[in-house]
Amino acid sequence: MDEGFNPMSADIIDGKAFAANLKQDVAAQVAILKEKYDLVPGLAVVLVGEDPASHIYVRNKNKSTAAAGMNSFEHRLEPDVSEAELLTLVKNLNEDPAVHGILVQLPLPKHINEAAVIDAISPEKDVDGFHVINSGLLATGGRGMVPCTPLGCIMMLRARLGDMSGLNAVIVGRSNIVGKPMAQLLLNENCTVTMAHSRTRDLADVVRRADIVVAAVGVPELVKGSWIKQGATVIDVGINRIEKPDGKTRLIGDVEYAEAAKHAAAITPVPGGVGPMTIAVLLKNTVTAACRQAGVEEPQV
Ligand code: GUN
Repeated sequence: MDEGFNPMSADIIDGKAFAANLKQDVAAQVAILKEKYDLVPGLAVVLVGEDPASHIYVRNKNKSTAAAGMNSFEHRLEPDVSEAELLTLVKNLNEDPAVHGILVQLPLPKHINEAAVIDAISPEKDVDGFHVINSGLLATGGRGMVPCTPLGCIMMLRARLGDMSGLNAVIVGRSNIVGKPMAQLLLNENCTVTMAHSRTRDLADVVRRADIVVAAVGVPELVKGSWIKQGATVIDVGINRIEKPDGKTRLIGDVEYAEAAKHAAAITPVPGGVGPMTIAVLLKNTVTAACRQAGVEEPQV
């Protein structure tokens, strides 16, 4: 073993601290926009129904938006609201000059076509980056809005690794929200990207080759710690609530953390890793959207 090498000592990538820094930067940008252009970025969040997890997310989003000095507009709709009513609200928000970002909290009730709602959001105001125009722009190297969670992951990876050219990156999970945009972002960093998913054969072998592992599959501890290559960087996007024998719940990721930390050089914890970054990036995306709509430069802080 190398001198000074401690197999138990993966660095923890502190998403909470990253997010706090980013939120501070966003608040400073907002103050400059107010002062220089009398521009106050506004974020509208639309919540349909009673899903408790969604209510918690939305409350946090509203609190963080206001704390950054931005306008926060909250729209709560009954679970039985019609798709047409929701589309009308989106249309009104598209036309409202005080609203620069629109986020419709997912999942939506089953009777509403999610894709139709997302595609009704003006791409310039689509701070989630879910609109097909924005996913197309990301895939073709254009300037669109980038989904918050993958953008947060890439910011942490850049800070940790710097130049990622030529590294093997393996993404476990192929969702539109995380896996696919993550692949595009890692390609942009010149990584060699492999997308693994539930049908991948020999997942262990695929993960063993990775210098960077991004786990975003939504299966508790699917990625075993023993699969992690020595010195790899591990980003765990999973947030799985599991019940303990005493009836209480705890959050665990998609990676078997304790074992992975013995092999990785750096790893994000759950909670306190990727999760806090998502809201911070949402605020950043709202500032970006506001600047583009107003035709002003994004302040550098
Ligand atoms: N539901 C869970 N995460 C998200 C997110 O990032 N954006 C939206 N719109 N809904 C979500």
